[in-house]
Amino acid sequence: MPPTTRRSAREPDAVPENLIPTPAAPPPDIVRCAYLDLVVTDLAASRDFYVDVLGLVVTHEDDDAVYLRSLEEFIHHNLVLRRGPVAAAAAFAYRVRAPEELDRVVAFYRELGCRVERRAEGFTRGVGDSVRVTDPLGFPYEFFYEVEHVERLAWRYDLHTPGALVRLDHFNQVTPDVPRAVRYMEDLGFRVTEDIQDAEGTTYAAWMRRKPTVHDTAMTGGDGPRLHHVAFATHEKHNIIAICDKLGALRQSDRIERGPGRHGVSNAFYLYLRDPDGHRVEIYTQDYWTGDPDNPVVTWDVHDNQRRDWWGNPVVPSWYTEASPVLDLDGNPQPVVARTDTSEMAVTIGADGFSYTRPEDDEDALPSWKQGEYKLGHQL
Ligand SMILES: [Fe+2]
Repeated sequence: MPPTTRRSAREPDAVPENLIPTPAAPPPDIVRCAYLDLVVTDLAASRDFYVDVLGLVVTHEDDDAVYLRSLEEFIHHNLVLRRGPVAAAAAFAYRVRAPEELDRVVAFYRELGCRVERRAEGFTRGVGDSVRVTDPLGFPYEFFYEVEHVERLAWRYDLHTPGALVRLDHFNQVTPDVPRAVRYMEDLGFRVTEDIQDAEGTTYAAWMRRKPTVHDTAMTGGDGPRLHHVAFATHEKHNIIAICDKLGALRQSDRIERGPGRHGVSNAFYLYLRDPDGHRVEIYTQDYWTGDPDNPVVTWDVHDNQRRDWWGNPVVPSWYTEASPVLDLDGNPQPVVARTDTSEMAVTIGADGFSYTRPEDDEDALPSWKQGEYKLGHQL
């Protein structure tokens, strides 16, 4: 059963109740996801994971924070590790196309009644004039244009490791009402690339972009607001295998949560890791070009067992249920709202723990040798 494609994500029957109003103010011109500001409880342990194991480059560090970038990056950082009492995401940061776009950010979010703070000197080392907001979904965002340039290490192959991380690719956010989130993100200028739905009209997740890749962020249905993961790109699939081999050699295989594998959604090759605080990091490569104005939207059926893993491997329960808190602009954890729509995990687990749930399949569609092989929560 191939996924279906259509020309636009916004269809009349997809308008949710309790929708976030569309501001009269135009949205800012967002270029791309730029960095994640992440609070960690043990800065040394996190530095070891992100620098010594994953090979991110230290732009600056002090007793309270480490500023890291990927090998092709020319802005100051893609990830800030900040020492703090609660492991959480402090800001999802986006770069805008020009300095004056920040005025649009302020107008857009003020009209929505959101808390908005602007600092001409910036909130974060290496970043200039910037705006932080708590958005209508409860997520902390930062927008900026001015940023310190640093050496782009693309040609410094003497510094590249076999698992070299070359770009920040995307965020993934957990939110209870995906259609509500998608509509607001479209108002903010994002476009849907792919989503997962069912025949009853429930949307389980959606992938949205500004840059011409599959996404800058995804909205995953679940209790939220929470950070599901941050993703870094490698050049090739073999770089991801090299990371797995390195983790094995370091006796850190427990860092691997899911994969490696091939996604159905996005077509990318993937690996999910958990950092010392449990923050989830995806290593990701080889999705596709989406820059044409009429790029088709791809919709997957939630009962397609190849949507999350193209080879049909099961998704571990922790991947569906666990995520990191996010902070408000004062640094306090945001309250989490429970999802009331059906959960993807609940509708995609068969009676034997893991099986096909496609309605056209009968009991014997799953090969006998595979039935009962994977009992979620009871894997050998
Ligand atoms: Fe991802």
